[in-house]
Amino acid sequence: MASYPHVFEYPMGALVNDELRMTNDECKLPASSGCDSDSSFVTRHSSFETRHSSFPLRGRWRQEFFKNDNPIVLELGCGRGEYAVGLARRYPDRNFIGVDIKGSRMWSGATESLKEGLKNVAFLRTNIEIIDHFFAPGEVQEIWLTFSDPQMKKATKRLTSTYFLARYRHFLEDGGLIHLKTDSNFLFTYTKYMVEANHLPVEVCTEDLYGDKSYRPTPNLARPQLRTDNLEGSLDLSIRTYYEQQWLARGLSIKYLRFRLPAEGTLVEPDVEIPLDDYRSYNRDKRSSLITSR
Ligand SMILES: C[S@@+](CC[C@H](N)C(=O)[O-])C[C@H]1O[C@@H](n2cnc3c(N)ncnc32)[C@H](O)[C@@H]1O
Repeated sequence: MASYPHVFEYPMGALVNDELRMTNDECKLPASSGCDSDSSFVTRHSSFETRHSSFPLRGRWRQEFFKNDNPIVLELGCGRGEYAVGLARRYPDRNFIGVDIKGSRMWSGATESLKEGLKNVAFLRTNIEIIDHFFAPGEVQEIWLTFSDPQMKKATKRLTSTYFLARYRHFLEDGGLIHLKTDSNFLFTYTKYMVEANHLPVEVCTEDLYGDKSYRPTPNLARPQLRTDNLEGSLDLSIRTYYEQQWLARGLSIKYLRFRLPAEGTLVEPDVEIPLDDYRSYNRDKRSSLITSR
C-alpha cells in the first residue's frame, strides 16, 4: 500500500438518506489498482449547513494542506490529472486540485506528482455535483474544464451549464476565471451562448487554438507576464492531455474559451438548438434521428 496524503476521497454515494457519510481525509490508495478504497470512518450529520462545514479542509486548504497563501485553481473532470500536474509544474506559486470521480484515472497523476515531490497539487475524488461541499466562499480563484464530456442529451449535466455555474459561485471568488478547453463544437457553442445570454465577461474565445495566430496578450489580463505572443505558446495552454491527444490525432481543432464568473446576477440557460457533434456516439445511435439539442 502506498500512502497518498494529497488525495481525498468523498464520492456522492457517501450521502445516504440525506445524511452525509464522510470518508477519512487521507485516502490510502492501492498501488496497483488505483483509488477505489472504501471510507475508513463514517460521520453522520443532519443539516445542510453542517454538511457544508464537515469536510475538514473546507476553508482551510491553504493553511492546513498547502501551507501557503497562494491562489487555488481547480481542474474539474481531471481524468489522469495531466492538466493539474502540468500546471503545478509550471506555476509553483499556485495551488492546484484535480477533481474526478474515477479514482483509477486520478491515480496516475497522483502517483506522478508524489514521485516528483510536487507540494502544490492535490486530488479530490468526488462527484462534481457536490463540489461546493469542499470549498468555502471565495476560496478558489480559477477553474479549468479540460475536455469535459459535452453531455449533449442534458444541459444540467454540462459542466458549463448554469446548474454547475451556480454551484461554482459558492466558492469561486467574485469574477473568478473559468477556462474551457474542448474538442467539442457542441459544448463550445453551448458555452458561448450561455456566456452571451448571461453577459459574462469573455477574455479569450477561439475555435482553433493552435491555428489562431491572431491572439495577442492584452495589458489588462490577470497574468499577462505568463503569456507569450500567441495562445498556443502560452504556458498554461501548452499542456496536451490524453483526450486532447486523441482528438488532435483525429484532426479535430481544439477550442478554448476563457470567461469570468461574477458572484451576482441571475443565471439563465440559453434557448438555442445546437448541432450535435457527429463523431460522438449520441448522434450515431440509429434509434435517434436528432441532429440538434438544446
Ligand atoms: C473526457 S474525460 C477528460 C479527462 C481529462 N480532463 C483529459 O482531458 O484527459 C472527462 C472526465 O470527467 C470526469 N467526470 C465527468 N463528469 C463528472 C462528474 N459529474 N463528477 C466527477 N467527474 C466527472 C470523468 O470521470 C472523466 O474522467
